[in-house]
This record gives sequence, C-alpha cells and structure tokens, in this order.
Amino acid sequence: MKKRLIILASLILIGVVPSFRANAQYQIPQKLKWWYNDRFGMFIHFGSYSYLAHGEWAFSIENWVKADYQQQVSPHFNPSKFDAREIVQLAKDAGMKYIVITAKHHEGFSMWDTKVKSFKDVTGKKMYSLQRFTPFGKRDVLMELKKACDVAGIKFCLYYSILDWGHSSQEINHVDGSTYSTMKSDSVRSAYIRDMKAQLKELIDRYHPASLWFDGDWTYNAGQPTPEKWWTKTDGVDLYNYLTGLDSNLVVNERVCRSFGLGDYECPEQEVPDAPRGRQWETCQTMNRTWGYNKNDNDYKSTKNLVRELVKVVSRDGNYLLNIGPKGDGTVPEQTADTLKAIGKWMDSYGESIYGTTRSPFAAEPEWVFYTKKEGKLFAHVFSWPQDGILSIPAIKNSIAKIYLMNDPGKTLDYSLEDGSIRISLPMNAPNDYDSVVVLEVAGLPEATKF
Ligand code: GLC
Repeated sequence: MKKRLIILASLILIGVVPSFRANAQYQIPQKLKWWYNDRFGMFIHFGSYSYLAHGEWAFSIENWVKADYQQQVSPHFNPSKFDAREIVQLAKDAGMKYIVITAKHHEGFSMWDTKVKSFKDVTGKKMYSLQRFTPFGKRDVLMELKKACDVAGIKFCLYYSILDWGHSSQEINHVDGSTYSTMKSDSVRSAYIRDMKAQLKELIDRYHPASLWFDGDWTYNAGQPTPEKWWTKTDGVDLYNYLTGLDSNLVVNERVCRSFGLGDYECPEQEVPDAPRGRQWETCQTMNRTWGYNKNDNDYKSTKNLVRELVKVVSRDGNYLLNIGPKGDGTVPEQTADTLKAIGKWMDSYGESIYGTTRSPFAAEPEWVFYTKKEGKLFAHVFSWPQDGILSIPAIKNSIAKIYLMNDPGKTLDYSLEDGSIRISLPMNAPNDYDSVVVLEVAGLPEATKF
C-alpha cells in the first residue's frame, strides 16, 4: 500500500497524473457498458391516449372517469399503420442506438397481450390491452419492434408505469392538485404489486428487453405505505432485486423508487444537470412539448437546439433519450420524422464525437463550445464560429499529434500554444450549420492542464 502511495506521489510530482482523474469519476458496471457507450436513444410514447391525440396525460388533465375513458378512448385505438421497421429505420438513421417504448403508461392500458387477469376494464369482463380491447386484433407491436430492433442492431427496452389509473386497485387522486393515484387498501396493494411483477415477468420472458424504464413512482415514501403514498422504498429495492434476479443483465432506471439512489442510473427529465452527476445519468426530452401524440402541439425545438442538447448532455457525461409520439394510427408525425432525419445527417458525419465519448476534461464551459473526449481524441463542438478565425481552447497535458475539422481530416489546422491555451486557426466559414467539430488527436485520454 505504502509503496503504491509513493509511486502515485512521484507520478504526480513529475506531472504524470494517472488518467482516472480525467476519466469518469465512477466505475461503469459491466452490464451498463453498452448503454454508457451508446449515448443516444429513442423514447416512444404510444398507447390508447395516442388515439385521443391530446397527449398521454389526458386522462388526468381532462378529468376522465375510468368507465368513460374506457368506452370513448381506448377501444378506438387502432394503430393499423404501425410499421416497426420504418420506426427503427428512423431511429437508426438518426444515430440512435436504443429504443424505449411504453409497454404500459399511467392510463393502465397494456400494449401486449397480457394474461395477468387483474388488468381488466371496469366491467371486469375484458382484458385492458391492445390485443383484447380494440379492433386492432392480435398483432404484437412490441414484438414487431423488438424484431426490427434486433435486425438493425438496436437495443430494445420497455417503459412501465408503476401507478395505474385504470387498475381496480387504484383511483386517480385529484385531491389538492395531486395527479397520482390512491390505493384502495393494503390487501389490494399487495395483490397489485404481485400482479405488476407478473406483468413484468411476462415482458422479460417474452421480449428480453435490454432495459426496463420505470415511471409513475411518485406515490412513494421511505416508510410504511399509506393510501396516497403507497409505493415504498422497500418496494423499489425489492422490485429491482426481483427483476435483476430474472435477468442479471437488465439495466433499470432509478424510478423503481426515485430519490433513494436506487436503480442503475439517474433520470432527470426535460433538463440537463449543470455538471456531471455522482453516477451515470440519462435525460429524457421531448422534441415538442408533449410525450404522447398531441395534435395541437407543433411547438418543435429546432434541430440545431436538439443537436446542441445532445452534445451538452454527453459533454456532462449523460445519455440523451429523445422522444417521439406516434399518432393513433401508428404513423410518425411528419415533423418528427423530418427532425430525426436532420439530426441523422449531423450524426452521419459527427457520430464518432458522441459514441463512446465521455465528459469534457475542462471545468469551465463556455456556451458556444462543448467538449467530448475519448482515448486519443478531444472533440471541440463549436456552436458559434469565431469571427476572428481563432478557436482558443484550454491547454491539455497530452501531446498533440494533429488538429483538423472532423469533416475534413486530411487537412491539418495550424495552431500555437500560448498562455495556457491552444489557439487554432480556422477557415472563415463553419463547415456545419448546427455544430462544427474540431478534432485534436492526442496521446492518451485528454486531460486539462488546470483543475
Ligand atoms: C413524466 C410523465 C410521463 C412521461 C415521463 C417521461 O413522468 O408523467 O407522461 O412518460 O415523464 O419521463
């Protein structure tokens, strides 16, 4: 031990700081390696709410009662034009490496032919699932998507809501502005949790998802269950253990019961944390303002902003899960598809600066340039092209082999080292409208000179 400390101290004295300082500050568990490497995924919100076209929260926001919702919304959902291969192709062309689709959202409607008996409609007569409750028939959209993902080399993952506005164990709770659910009694709580696990086992056995993405865990507390706070930290721990017991490679998000550091990674929503977190994280975001299809929501973010968001996320060591909300007939809204294609164009040329890269080596982060890095390369993502033709970036400890524009690797750029910075001469015009990437080829993992 003493010997190791002496070696470490002498390395630091001679200026060779071991690379773990610039590396991720946490260990990436083996099962998470693909996920940490892939960086960019597609979220799909698709359920009977897609038919209503008011977003996935319509049940709550519009004060539906179960019986009416189950008569006027769900049975009309008929995604006969759903084309798994087309959606997977869109994801692949956009440079996304994994897909997370809603198997059951808060409305309680199952997107697969579940056999778990308590997931019935209010009459108790019909299974409340796509296959048994709608004119759509027996097609298995999740399996279609899974198969198309397997062919395309994309990881297939499933979203599942813990709270369930449709299930007989719960009622939606509107008291004091709450939008969650109230559990009817202790015994129905136990039965619901048992049945929820049975559904999740169905999903694992049938689709072998690479990851389960939980949500709807807000009715949680750290202690004993109450009717309003009926999901406990103990339940979250138990659920995680149950699932990883079924499949030890399963990647599970923190929302098995958020706020307690559970699951394999953190899940900020519609936001990017200011800095890397204490462990792996993924932000999920919409392209417009809603997750489930909303025919009145055309408020799309620009492609430039979406690309910028992706880069910002990766530069802070996160993953980016970008949502699409197919229409009730299963088709992808045109503007969504166009946006994905535009992102794909950028990813085609610049994907290498995203996949397998980690956080910026620098503490400071100007708004107009973000950094990502991997062994042997530092990527400077330039969002505003310098007017004076000089890109100045902080000095690094590594020796520099060459510097070039990522779209033109054959042409090296001149640079000089001055006052703790690297001054790179750029051509007059930015080569890309969204984000032009300057590559520094270096020895080892890029590391800032100052900490
Ligand atoms: C929120 C919403 C939900 C959406 C999710 C995505 O928790 O309740 O509709 O599925 O965010 O993270």
